[in-house]
Amino acid sequence: MIRAQRETARKSVKPTNQPSAAHHAGPERPVRKVFDAVRDKQPFEAEIHPSLLTEEMVLEVDAFSLYYGAAQALWEISMGIPKGKVTALIGPSGCGKSTLLRSVNRMNDLIDSVRIGGTMRLNGDSIYAAGVDVIELRKRIGMVFQKPNPFPMSIFENVVYSLRIDGERKKSVLEEVCEASLRGAGLWEEAKDRLHESALRLSGGQQQRLCIARAIAAEPEVLLLDEPCSALDPIATGRIEDLIEELKGSYSILMVTHNMQQASRTSDYTAFMYLGRLVEYGPTEDVFVQPRLAETEDYVTGRFG
Ligand SMILES: Nc1ncnc2c1ncn2[C@@H]1O[C@H](COP(=O)(O)OP(=O)(O)OP(=O)(O)O)[C@@H](O)[C@H]1O
Ligand SMILES: [Mg+2]
Repeated sequence: MIRAQRETARKSVKPTNQPSAAHHAGPERPVRKVFDAVRDKQPFEAEIHPSLLTEEMVLEVDAFSLYYGAAQALWEISMGIPKGKVTALIGPSGCGKSTLLRSVNRMNDLIDSVRIGGTMRLNGDSIYAAGVDVIELRKRIGMVFQKPNPFPMSIFENVVYSLRIDGERKKSVLEEVCEASLRGAGLWEEAKDRLHESALRLSGGQQQRLCIARAIAAEPEVLLLDEPCSALDPIATGRIEDLIEELKGSYSILMVTHNMQQASRTSDYTAFMYLGRLVEYGPTEDVFVQPRLAETEDYVTGRFG
């Protein structure tokens, strides 16, 4: 979108959404115009909190759009994902969270009908430029899905999978990476005596930690987690949340969650999406406690969605 259009859009939407307005109850409560603009497919600029501007970004998304055939699923999303931090993506079902996550490692390339616009950069390197080696790119971006998907092989072979693909044969290197990754994923103590058993024999929560170990063994620059706990019980969920906390700093994590407590417990930044748009993005505490937009407040307090 050209700048003039953005300015017009900003002017048309902003006056009803001044900072702190979200806290006003009663008659001065702002009219909720953001969702109308989104639903009417009007130009719209996300509310990005200024503290994000001070962060160094591992991933930059710039006016990124995505269409499944004729249906537009992402609308000019522009956002940076800070290095060494956890960023949560929240929003109602179908708003495009998984689509955005899958776009980062070009998993959507596998779908014939998909067209994209805009750009994404990983540590400055264009993700969608012609000639990008997608296999190499996916080594730089780890992904863990909602449902644990260990490969039908041993625990050990699951963890060292990316090294095997790279042709690493040295047993000492493989063992070292296996232990470090399982320790990193909080699974070492439970798995160390059964490394050569099938990974499929692990419990769901253990399998999910194994998938995280497999992802971090490749030392990715970004780790994408798409609702990593939704198939897990509260204890396994707690372990994954602790793990995310521990990985913070060493890894840059972009995580989709439907669980508001989880987003507020584990993430540094939270991005709220609605109908394929980025609506508000800022430090998690601000987004949850004093969001700038009334619409964000409605969502995080469970008034809709
Ligand atoms: N492979 C596909 N082909 C066509 N449309 C798709 C495809 N995948 C997703 N969509 C559509 O794109 C939109 C966004 O879907 P997406 O899965 O990204 O949402 P989501 O925010 O992850 O939802 P949820 O919270 O339910 O996981 C939806 O309207 C969905 O129907
Ligand atoms: Mg999803």
